[in-house]
Amino acid sequence: MNSINKKLEYIKANNLYRKIKYLSESQDKYTTVDGMKVLLMSSNNYLGLSNNEDVKQSAIEAIQKYGLGSGGSRLTTGSYDLHRKLERKIAEFKNYEDALIFNTGYMANLGVISAICDENYYIFSDELNHASIVDGCRLSKGETIVYKHNNVKDLENKIKALNPSNRIIVSDSVFSMDGDICNFDKIYEISKRYNLLTILDDAHATGVIGKTGRGSSEYFKYKPDITIGTLSKAIGSEGGFVCASESIIDFLRNKARSFIFSTALSPIVISGAIKSLEIIDENIQLVEKLSNNISYACKRLNEIGFDIDSHSPIIPILIGDEEKAVKLSELLLENGIFIPAIRNPTVKKGCTILRLTLMSTHNYEDIDYVIDIINKYKLEI
Ligand SMILES: Cc1ncc(COP(=O)(O)O)c(C=O)c1O
Repeated sequence: MNSINKKLEYIKANNLYRKIKYLSESQDKYTTVDGMKVLLMSSNNYLGLSNNEDVKQSAIEAIQKYGLGSGGSRLTTGSYDLHRKLERKIAEFKNYEDALIFNTGYMANLGVISAICDENYYIFSDELNHASIVDGCRLSKGETIVYKHNNVKDLENKIKALNPSNRIIVSDSVFSMDGDICNFDKIYEISKRYNLLTILDDAHATGVIGKTGRGSSEYFKYKPDITIGTLSKAIGSEGGFVCASESIIDFLRNKARSFIFSTALSPIVISGAIKSLEIIDENIQLVEKLSNNISYACKRLNEIGFDIDSHSPIIPILIGDEEKAVKLSELLLENGIFIPAIRNPTVKKGCTILRLTLMSTHNYEDIDYVIDIINKYKLEI
């Protein structure tokens, strides 16, 4: 206990202590945080679908038909026809032969990487990959080789240095904190040259990149062998997924422990996710609106002295010092804007950011307001 208290003291003394803030309204551009009405500028609900009327109606119909919980794991009693319908929809949306749903994106990364990569595998993993990829690598029996962020030269050198065997490259497609996009077309060419499998994590790409929001399979020239993703961000629901060939999906259905040993997702979130995907299919303007907001926010941030060129809704405003970033986040909150400071261990020490995220429901006035406030306080912190 003593050592736990000491660690907690260390966290507090280094401005790394985290406290949960509670929302008491839906995840819209305006919400209520700890009793205060705010402009939400930090949600992953990029297309505003989590509170969409048609999505909610679809969820209501599901609870009326199926009830609340799914009552079992997918391989026992928990598979509803809806689960399969969503898997087929995701596979079609992403242009793959088949798909498999997991309970979260985190569990998808854990399950897929640990099932595929046995002791005969080398895993090449980008140094800024999401924690769930890192944990999937740790759980696997393969050996992980970390390459420099988005650095294809370093990746190739590391691949060349090892004898050929079973090898896989895994990367976020849109990096979750920096919002930059992986250099996948180059990575894919390397993977073909040296005969490696490729996995991309489309958590922040689905509904976001590609002309119609399909993510990596639409945005890049080449398609990864395996795409992992989540339904919890632009899709506005919950759950993770993996897309691949029929045989890989069949293998994962039989081998991925986080798929096998956990109760299936509620039909409510499944039904909502199906509706969200249909809405994205039919409303390309949602994706376009988000993309316009991204360009506008970057232009405005450059005008006030931040060097930011994001092509995703994640706009990292680098503050560096933990205390200053927390202070700026508090000042923004006092002005009715919610953007938490993201600190170590999510980012490197001394690289604290305000992780501003955009939604298609924001407009240019919202963006102007936030940027003007940041500009006002950036020199005061
Ligand atoms: C890149 C990335 N992968 C996976 C996940 C995990 O997804 P989920 O929230 O569905 O567990 C996240 C975010 O939470 C993420 O940013």
